[in-house]
Amino acid sequence: MSRIGSEGEDIIGRWSEEKLDLLAKYLKAYSVIMNEQKKSWLRAYYYIDAFAGSVRPRAKEDEQRYIDGSPLRALQTEPQFDGYWFVDVSPKRVERVQGLRAEFPNCVIDVRQGNCNEILCNEIVPQLPYASKQRAFVFLDPYGLQVDWETVRELASTRTCDIFVNFSVMGVTRLLPREQNPEPEVIEQLTKVMGSTNWITEIYRETPGIQLGLFGNPTEPTSSRDTIQAEWLASLYTKQLKLLFPHVSRPVLMRNSTNSVLYALCLASHNQTAIKITNEIFNQYEKLRDLRR
Ligand SMILES: C[S@@+](CC[C@H](N)C(=O)[O-])C[C@H]1O[C@@H](n2cnc3c(N)ncnc32)[C@H](O)[C@@H]1O
Repeated sequence: MSRIGSEGEDIIGRWSEEKLDLLAKYLKAYSVIMNEQKKSWLRAYYYIDAFAGSVRPRAKEDEQRYIDGSPLRALQTEPQFDGYWFVDVSPKRVERVQGLRAEFPNCVIDVRQGNCNEILCNEIVPQLPYASKQRAFVFLDPYGLQVDWETVRELASTRTCDIFVNFSVMGVTRLLPREQNPEPEVIEQLTKVMGSTNWITEIYRETPGIQLGLFGNPTEPTSSRDTIQAEWLASLYTKQLKLLFPHVSRPVLMRNSTNSVLYALCLASHNQTAIKITNEIFNQYEKLRDLRR
């Protein structure tokens, strides 16, 4: 997990750096393909960072080492995107992001301060209708449960925006009490983030592990609160994404130094090739990670 340093800086663990490496790899592939499409039908393609962050977070294991955050990874991608939207709720972080204009004078950079759910739905999505022949890659990288399901729905309905989401599995698990059923406010909060919470009733039933027909799949075993697995929660989220996007990658689980799952990273896209590329990048990453252990 990242923690806040001075002046809105982030101090990030090894897994966050790995997440950024996965992002950079995918952005490279995406940009090469989209640039090629510009020779025919495509007018422009954009990078949208809804949780832009502190630009150069420090490494947890060595606070003197600065890491290139997601806006830098995007700006360094070749070929360049036609434009970059960076959003963050924190004025201090937005100030840092604004500084990137001087560093990358040849890039078209639009910086917005505020809640990304509102900015995406009210200011950015209306600029990307299907008929405009524009496309965008949206990175959703919150600390916790800040991405509203309605925002995901809006982005999917454009058919122009793909999303790369870092879904907080840990954020969901923390909200689910072990000793009692969750309060209505918790259910409301999780519905806001995941779209559906039918699964909550299932995991608080007394008999665990029975076949419950979750999301219309009668053969799938579910979980109970005591045995709930990160993999299962991650696949719940990707199943939900499949209701909105035609193609969704498998989730890759991002683990901290003690091997606990913090997040699940996945791509939801309108293009099947994008998913094939993402799954290959994820597979390669997991193989290397297993070798290091
Ligand atoms: C995990 S950090 C982003 C890290 C960045 N993507 C990176 O990889 O370098 C999350 C960021 O989201 C911002 N944030 C939190 N809630 C937000 C919201 N509702 N809308 C936009 N930004 C938000 C925080 O200020 C923080 O900078």
